[in-house]
Amino acid sequence: MVKNRIKFLCNECGFESTKWLGKCPSCGQWNTFVEYKETRVSKNKFNGFEFSNSIPPQSITEIEKDNLKRSLTGIYEFDRVLGGGIVPGSVVLIGGEPGIGKSTLLMQMAYYIANNGAKVLYSSSEESVQQLSLRANRLDVVNDDLLVCAEYSVDKIIEYCENIKPSLLIVDSIQTIFDADSEAQQGSVNSIKLCASKLIKYAKTSGIPIFIIGHVTKGGIVAGPKILEHMVDSVMYLEGSSNHDFRILRNAKNRFGSTDEIGLFEMSSSGLKEVKDPGEIFLTKGEIDISGSVLGSTIEGSRPIAIEIQAIASETKYGIPQRSINGPDYKRVNTIIAVLEKRLHLFLGNQDIFINAVGGIRINDPGIDLAIFMAIYSSYSNKIIPKNNVFIGEIGLGGEIRAVSGIKRRIEEARRFGINKIFIPYYSREEIKNSGKIIKCKSVNDLVECVKYV
Ligand SMILES: Nc1ncnc2c1ncn2[C@@H]1O[C@H](COP(=O)(O)OP(=O)(O)OP(=O)(O)O)[C@@H](O)[C@H]1O
Ligand SMILES: [Mg+2]
Repeated sequence: MVKNRIKFLCNECGFESTKWLGKCPSCGQWNTFVEYKETRVSKNKFNGFEFSNSIPPQSITEIEKDNLKRSLTGIYEFDRVLGGGIVPGSVVLIGGEPGIGKSTLLMQMAYYIANNGAKVLYSSSEESVQQLSLRANRLDVVNDDLLVCAEYSVDKIIEYCENIKPSLLIVDSIQTIFDADSEAQQGSVNSIKLCASKLIKYAKTSGIPIFIIGHVTKGGIVAGPKILEHMVDSVMYLEGSSNHDFRILRNAKNRFGSTDEIGLFEMSSSGLKEVKDPGEIFLTKGEIDISGSVLGSTIEGSRPIAIEIQAIASETKYGIPQRSINGPDYKRVNTIIAVLEKRLHLFLGNQDIFINAVGGIRINDPGIDLAIFMAIYSSYSNKIIPKNNVFIGEIGLGGEIRAVSGIKRRIEEARRFGINKIFIPYYSREEIKNSGKIIKCKSVNDLVECVKYV
């Protein structure tokens, strides 16, 4: 028997209410509530497939651990972000901007798994099977065990899965599939919720892991994958900038591992390639020393990355000075500019300031403060800082240089590139031996004194 109840759902965040509301109490957005009929299937089955959720309680020690044996994707950077491979029955959501490479990444992963003799079903409701075949051929990832279909119905996808029994199912994308049991419009928050819950139930009962692709959308009626985040086991985001080839796979949530790890890739005509050495992307090649170009170090997940920060400070020709920042956080850079003005008495109010992190990587790590500071200082004062210097540390409002996490790892990474003068905070959580190559500074004034002689 099917019971229908009228409810209202926020299109932005999926908040449920029994009556229409003008403003969502959860996400604060206005006019986002839409009506939907909640369909309840009283029997615990669909499509003839019965959910086996009637296992009586058992002792935690009796549960077989073998069921949680992870399988590797064959892409080291991907496995690292997953926490060591795919857990059976897990559901992973991969989000990202249009065209960033979600389908490419999962197609490559599907191939590696199929190449190991396991069947993988790639169900795409965005592209036809011909388009999938074109991509697979371009990426050179064709294998008999890689099965593709262009299916829109979630029940049909599950039915195919039941027949094929693949070791992995990929659904591309959650916004373009629908649930025939409900009247929810394809791509609406309600439809996304219903389809995802069917897929999740299927994964949990069959043990087949499922990777779901979701689009990130800003506003509008098509719901982003935010609503799914609490439903699935892991949430990953493939990020990058349209002007650069590198991509970062970040983990926003992981029920089976740490969320600290990131995966680094580079987009090419033959697909996403793993980046083993981040220095190749984030440091400028060639040994030209110019003012405003300074080396720093950031930590992404557990990985230290040596990175080049470039700045230009030039007198503005128009009334209001420009601040253009690509990579580091806008507010942090403004704070650093304020410290330069207050503590070093530089007048930057008439300067256009442009900051760029080589490679365009988004950086939130405060450990990069010192490099940004030095890049602006170097450009403003036309002082060249040679590339054998690296600056690591956070800057406080008083101009003090604060300790940062992972200082030893950052130093080791910098040394790998032959950098022999490392400026670090005077106080560190880890003990760092004093040597001629490591210069400890208490404040930005100390630092400026030290760089006079580099
Ligand atoms: N022939 C090619 N040579 C180089 N790069 C290509 C080529 N074809 C596609 N690409 C790259 O692949 C990207 C598209 O990848 P993909 O289709 O996997 O993205 P997606 O995230 O799945 O996009 P969508 O959201 O539209 O599904 C393009 O933006 C481009 O960077
Ligand atoms: Mg795609």
